[in-house]
Formats: sequence, structure tokens, C-alpha cells
Amino acid sequence: MNRVAVLGSANADLVVEVPRRPAGGETLLGSDLHVFAGGKGANQAAAAARSGASTSFHACVGRDENGEVVRSRLVEAGVAVEGIVTVDRPTGTALILVTPDGENSIVVSPGANQALDVGHAEATADQWSNADVLVLNLETPRETVERVAAMAAERGVRVLLNAAPAEQVSSVTLAVCDPLVVNEHEARALLEDDGNSSFARLAERFLDLGVRSVVITLGAAGALYGDRNGIDTVPSFRVPVVDTTGAGDAFVGATACELAAGTPLRDAVAFASAVAALSVQRMGAQSSYPDRRQVEAWLAERG
Ligand code: RIB
Ligand code: NA
Repeated sequence: MNRVAVLGSANADLVVEVPRRPAGGETLLGSDLHVFAGGKGANQAAAAARSGASTSFHACVGRDENGEVVRSRLVEAGVAVEGIVTVDRPTGTALILVTPDGENSIVVSPGANQALDVGHAEATADQWSNADVLVLNLETPRETVERVAAMAAERGVRVLLNAAPAEQVSSVTLAVCDPLVVNEHEARALLEDDGNSSFARLAERFLDLGVRSVVITLGAAGALYGDRNGIDTVPSFRVPVVDTTGAGDAFVGATACELAAGTPLRDAVAFASAVAALSVQRMGAQSSYPDRRQVEAWLAERG
């Protein structure tokens, strides 16, 4: 059985559809409010579980209604939630505007996610290290992520780091990433690239920095992946876009599921691209993630 553990953030996503992004000082009317379960970590766990992995999630939420929303949506997705701890801070909240092109702007108030500190992560190591692949992202404190990555590597657990939101990580942490998953913006930010290097060059630079493998997601242009055997790309699927929120997380969770099953990186990335393509066709993050059966049926239909 492929086992995935995700240690990371959980948020309530407060989403309003708007005709365009408001300017400073401007008041704009939008749609009714949608409240979705979100947060990069929770989304990645939901995607891994829906893709078929036996998945556990390790996070902090508040003693509030949003904490319950997060927990119950994950249970519905089939995620083991015993690793979610309740703390005395509000559950993380994301304020999200979605424009008619499906693009979003997001502000996150981390709240309880900040309580996922090194001490907490160390104390629960036996729970989160019991996996084939451990998924981390940077919506939780960086010191925690770096310590957990090191401990996981010592314990022989494969680490997938999604360096989102973009933040620098140490070379020691980069060296255990297998893979590092970033989008174009995060790749350029981590490498302090001026925007001129090709994607293949960016991937090479990450490999030179010591990552064991790397995936750069390129939205409509597909995804580029590489390791010491070489660099290649998989194309994306052309689909109508409703809401891209959490598409990257769908990709990460599905990739982790496939890698945990022993699937080669190329095939993992191809499957994850299909999961992401299905997710952008519906509103919300987790609320838009397909089950494995749906992905396989959709791929079969497309031939
Ligand atoms: O990656 C998408 C996620 O980013 C949203 O669910 C939101 O909670 C923010 O964390
Ligand atoms: Na979506």
C-alpha cells in the first residue's frame, strides 16, 4: 500500500468571485461568499487520498468552526486526521478573490498553522515518519519544515518539498528533496533568476544545488521534471478553466501518491497533470479534486 504523510497547513478558504481585482481604496461587489476547506497541506493530503494513497495529515487548527470544517472535509476525502491538533489560535484563513479567467489572489492569515513548531513536529515524529513519501510546503514555519525534512531523511522517508509560498530554504534541506516541486515564480524566486533562464536551465540549477529530483509546473505549458538521468517535459491538458485555486496542491498530492506506489517520476507527473486539469474546471481547491476512478475514466475518454 502506498502511504503518504503530509505535514503542513490547513485553512478555511473564504472565496468571492469578482469581475476584476479591486484597486487600492476601491470597494467592489462580488458573488455570495463560498467557504471551502483549503490550505496547501490539507489540499495536498486530500489530493493524495483521492488519488488512492493511504494518507495521514499532521497540522494545527483552532478551537473554532473552521477547524471542524477542515477536519470533516479531510475525513470525507479519506485522510487519517488523528495528527491534527487543536490549539488556542484561530484556524488559518485564506481570503481569496477569483476573477472570470479563473485566476486568484490570495492573502493568508496563518493563525494556528504558526503553532506547528519544531517541538511539536519532533514530538509527533513517529506518526508522520510512518510513510513512503512525506509532503512538506512552506505555509508552516520554515524551521519546522527544515527540521522535519532532516529527520525524515535520517529515517529513510522520501521527502517531497513544495516550496510554496516562495521562500529560501537551506542547501541541507534542498539536498533531501526528491522531488522539489515549484511553479515558475517559485523557481525563479528561489534561484534569484532575473526571468531570462529557460526552464531546463532552472531545473539544472536546482540539480546542481543538490536536489535529487525537481518538478517545475508550468500551468498551461505542462510540467518539466528532471533528475540525474535527464530533464524532460510532459504536456498539459487543454481544459476550460473555472478556478485554479489549489491546482498546484492537487498536482503535489497526486504526485506524492504515485511516487509512494513506486511509479517513475515521469508517469507520476503525467498522472498529476490530469488531476490538476480536472481540478481547475470546478470552484474551490479540495472541493474540485477528482477521485482516481474519475481521473482514469477521463484519461480513457481522451484516448
Ligand atoms: O494553494 C492554494 C491554497 O493556498 C488555498 O487553499 C489557500 O488556503 C492557500 O493556502
Ligand atoms: Na478548482
